[in-house]
Amino acid sequence: MSEILTKETVEADTVISSIQQIKTVSVIGAGTMGNGIVHVFAQNGYDVHMIDIAQTALDKALANVSKNMDRQVTKGSLTEDQKSAALAKIATYTDLAEGLKGADLVIEAATENIDLKMRIFQDIDRLAPAHAILATNTSSISITRIASHTTRPAQVVGMHFMNPVPVMKLVEIIAGYATDKSVTKVIYDLTEHIGKVPCVVNDYPGFIANRILMPMINEAISSLQEGVAGVEEIDTIMKLGMAHPMGPLQLADFIGLDTCLSIMNVLHMGFGNQKYAPATLLANMVQAGYLGAKSGEGFYKYTPGSKELVISDRFADKKWRP
Ligand SMILES: NC(=O)c1ccc[n+]([C@@H]2O[C@H](COP(=O)([O-])OP(=O)(O)OC[C@H]3O[C@@H](n4cnc5c(N)ncnc54)[C@H](O)[C@@H]3O)[C@@H](O)[C@H]2O)c1
Repeated sequence: MSEILTKETVEADTVISSIQQIKTVSVIGAGTMGNGIVHVFAQNGYDVHMIDIAQTALDKALANVSKNMDRQVTKGSLTEDQKSAALAKIATYTDLAEGLKGADLVIEAATENIDLKMRIFQDIDRLAPAHAILATNTSSISITRIASHTTRPAQVVGMHFMNPVPVMKLVEIIAGYATDKSVTKVIYDLTEHIGKVPCVVNDYPGFIANRILMPMINEAISSLQEGVAGVEEIDTIMKLGMAHPMGPLQLADFIGLDTCLSIMNVLHMGFGNQKYAPATLLANMVQAGYLGAKSGEGFYKYTPGSKELVISDRFADKKWRP
């Protein structure tokens, strides 16, 4: 394994230019994605600072990481000792300034909301070491726009992990208009170093992954809304007919309906094209707090500890069965 330098060896004003200089990774947001990102970096020997405004989110995330590592231990891909070593690498913070101390790489994985991300990046820029690379896990928001809220746009890059992070191989790397090529290269190398597969794309709304995936999910929701078919039929058709591992409605629940709505809004605004308008049913469900797996109900109902797929009562209408 390559040598990891001590922090003292990274000159305060020299931007990180190789992965050997990265020792401490601060992850902002301990939700669905944040805990997975923390998991992967801790398992790969990095000191990880996990930051969230909510202590409950941090506690839940730590418990999740531990539970997911237990699964790896059961499968034999991680030993108990490796699990303990990885967990010992994670420190949690509700104070942003404390959590950013000594960071060589910051990965922002907070809620998908443009105004929130702009504010967070202004704060990160003020508080994180000058040499640090600032990455965002945003699913769709312009990297160029986020970078413009910092004094170091050349050091801002998109590092879009897929859910669930410990399992999914792809990382979509997004080069903003001002991102320095050497920064993109460091993130590319780092992605490979942590066992993932990088794909570099340019900064357009939704990048590639969500420009293609999210209109499909939105169309599935519109089809449900129009009564073309039921939840089970839509998901079964896409699973068995297109060999998708999960139907689009189940996937929407898994991603979070609020995140799906935010991404559709970004595509709609970014391209100015009506074809990206979010389905009314999606907007209604988000407004009513039915956010999918994380809130306990979306198109399906979720009971902690149960893997059974139960359609939400609202959509369980039997009229779909002849
Ligand atoms: N869910 C997915 O499948 C998925 C996939 C790829 C990328 N993403 C992106 O990852 C990011 C996070 O999504 P998620 O699904 O994990 O969301 P989430 O709602 O599960 O978690 C967001 C977390 O951010 C925290 N947060 C909010 N404001 C904060 C602040 N100011 N400082 C620190 N923490 C703050 C919240 O408390 C919450 O714990 C979004 O940008 C999303 O688009 C999500």
